[in-house]
This record gives sequence, C-alpha cells and structure tokens, in this order.
Amino acid sequence: MSLPQPRRASAAARVPLDALFRDAGLPRWSAEQWAGEWAHPGGRIWWIPDRGAALAGLVVRCAADEAEILQLAVAPAARRQGAASLLLDAFRSAEPQIDRMFLEVRASNDPAQAFYRAVGFEEVGRRVGYYVDREDAIVMARPLTKPVGNPAG
Ligand SMILES: CC(C)(COP(=O)(O)OP(=O)(O)OC[C@H]1O[C@@H](n2cnc3c(N)ncnc32)[C@H](O)[C@@H]1OP(=O)(O)O)[C@@H](O)C(=O)NCCC(=O)NCCS
Repeated sequence: MSLPQPRRASAAARVPLDALFRDAGLPRWSAEQWAGEWAHPGGRIWWIPDRGAALAGLVVRCAADEAEILQLAVAPAARRQGAASLLLDAFRSAEPQIDRMFLEVRASNDPAQAFYRAVGFEEVGRRVGYYVDREDAIVMARPLTKPVGNPAG
C-alpha cells in the first residue's frame, strides 16, 4: 500500500487525531490540552490524513535543539507499513535544527520499544512508577547530530 504524504496538522484535525490516539490506548487529552499544543511555540503536530480519518499522528514538543515525542500512533490496520517512520522522517526534514529526540514509553509496550529501537533510539533511563498506574517509563533517546568534519580528510 502506498501511504498518503504526512503533513502538518491544523487544529481542525483534533477530532480524528484524538480518536486515533484513543483507539491506540494512549492517554486522552482534553480539548484544552490539544489547544495548548497548537498554541505552544514548540508544538509540532503531524499526521497522515486518510479520507477524513487519521491514519497516523505525531505530537512533538521542540525546545532549542531537542524534541520530545509526546504522542505517536498508527491506526491498527496500517501498522508495519512504514507510516510511523514516514512521520518521523517528515518531522526531521522540517526541523533540521533538532539534534536529539527523546520520549517516554511504558515498560510493557514492547511493540513501541521495538519500533523506536528500529529507527535508532536507545534506552537511556527508567522512571520508576512514572505512570498513574505506577508502571515504569523507559526513557529512550536518539542523537541526530551528524559527525562534523572527516578525520580521514
Ligand atoms: C509503535 C507504532 C507507532 C509503530 O508504527 P508503524 O507504522 O507500525 O511502524 P513502522 O511500520 O514505521 O515500523 C518500522 C520498524 O519498526 C519495527 N516495528 C514496528 N512495529 C513493531 C512491532 N509491533 N514489533 C516489532 N517491531 C516493530 C520494525 O523493525 C519495523 O520495520 P519492519 O516492519 O520492516 O520490520 C505503532 O505500533 C502504534 O501505533 N502503536 C500503538 C501506540 C503506541 O504504543 N505508541 C507509542 C507510544 S510511546
């Protein structure tokens, strides 16, 4: 299947994105939280729209040269087709100043950890009892900085 192109989401995408994240079992955001992300200068919301629904969505918070992934999900029927990778690539191309990305993921969320490892993230820490149900969070990070100069040259 060829995927539609990722694009920056406007606030009009809130309802389909909220449904996508809800169906993926991610924490629900209130309308105020969503509005806050769109209003925040570092807020970046990307999605892959598909006939009015959200096939995939990514919410990132940028601060200087770092970016934290706050939400990422792909509709169940569209998984393992490269949609999440495509979204991350689109974000990176649009924000070349970002040198490092990081995120927290539930310790039990093996598929998401496998995805993040596959795209270059590694575990850098653990927050014990981080979630409201006391599950630990795994902190993962990915340095994006390219090597400067060529020692051989
Ligand atoms: C995690 C998630 C976003 C991955 O999205 P995706 O579009 O399926 O990921 P991609 O197709 O880009 O996967 C790229 C690679 O990551 C790895 N990967 C992705 N999902 C995987 C899984 N379930 N198990 C093992 N490896 C996986 C694979 O190496 C994959 O390449 P391959 O399919 O060629 O083997 C998706 O499973 C999801 O929405 N999960 C529910 C929500 C969630 O947990 N979000 C993360 C919160 S922090």
